[in-house]
Amino acid sequence: MVAPVEGPVLILGAAGRLGRALARVYPRAVLTGHDLEITDGAAVREFVAVLRPSLVYNCAALTDVDACEEDPARAMAVNGEGAGHVARACARVGAVLVHLSTDYVFGGAKDGYLESDGPDPVNAYGRSKALGEARVREAGGDWRIVRTSRLFGPGENDFASQMRTRSLVKPVVPVIDDEWSRFTYLPELAGRLPGVAAAPPGVYHLANEGAVSWYGFARELIPNAAPVTVGQCRRRAPRPRCASLRNTKLPPMRHWREALSDYVRLVAGEA
Ligand SMILES: NC(=O)c1ccc[n+]([C@@H]2O[C@H](COP(=O)([O-])OP(=O)(O)OC[C@H]3O[C@@H](n4cnc5c(N)ncnc54)[C@H](OP(=O)(O)O)[C@@H]3O)[C@@H](O)[C@H]2O)c1
Repeated sequence: MVAPVEGPVLILGAAGRLGRALARVYPRAVLTGHDLEITDGAAVREFVAVLRPSLVYNCAALTDVDACEEDPARAMAVNGEGAGHVARACARVGAVLVHLSTDYVFGGAKDGYLESDGPDPVNAYGRSKALGEARVREAGGDWRIVRTSRLFGPGENDFASQMRTRSLVKPVVPVIDDEWSRFTYLPELAGRLPGVAAAPPGVYHLANEGAVSWYGFARELIPNAAPVTVGQCRRRAPRPRCASLRNTKLPPMRHWREALSDYVRLVAGEA
């Protein structure tokens, strides 16, 4: 049960993975996608000024890591300056802003990152999301930044569904075994975000407990995963080897294996 919010709740990027999961938590929320282009500062300011939301979730982002590497200017415009437009618009009307960020603001040089750790990104996506975090802080409003990682959930075009599809059409599915992070079950994350909105301003980490490699996760899901190294794969953008988010401020989420069991039960029911 979500505590009632007095004014409208606005979800930006509502057609995306997390946006759709959040829309189920807030069935009366105002939902926007590209009809509210977050790179258009004047449009964002006007929309928010007219709606006067109490609470805004910014799930709008360019999340294709390799596409960001290919067009870093676009990544900066959306994930960086776009987040700033949203944050300033929220600050002007006194709305609480919950802005979504990522483990990829970190480079992987540390064994587990705290909420207080400063960004050291290794790719254009991470740099653009780090700029977004900076713009949100600078706006000076009532903000929370939620860093999360490796989202998966039923009905999504995500790593889990890609693995299931590949497993059906290929005898062996090569999966990277030397990059670790925390996976995060979308329905669980969406259910936890109202609690973050009600928490004091600041930076929060939310992901299922337990760091695991892509392969370690995939082998629990499909029978024909085979481990490979990063060096064996061709990808445009470098990734952090291990950017595990440590949550020291909120009650922990479940272990990823428990969340994956729920996921498997749900998708088995869909088949
Ligand atoms: N997915 C992950 O594993 C992951 C991990 C860590 C953090 N995060 C963060 O979590 C948040 C939500 O991620 P997600 O996976 O739900 O992303 P997603 O599925 O890619 O959804 C993002 C949404 O934003 C929209 N969008 C893109 N550019 C926009 C713009 N300029 N103006 C308005 N809307 C725009 C997209 O529309 P189009 O698709 O039509 O362009 C899409 O509907 C993001 O901040 C992301 O950085 C995600």
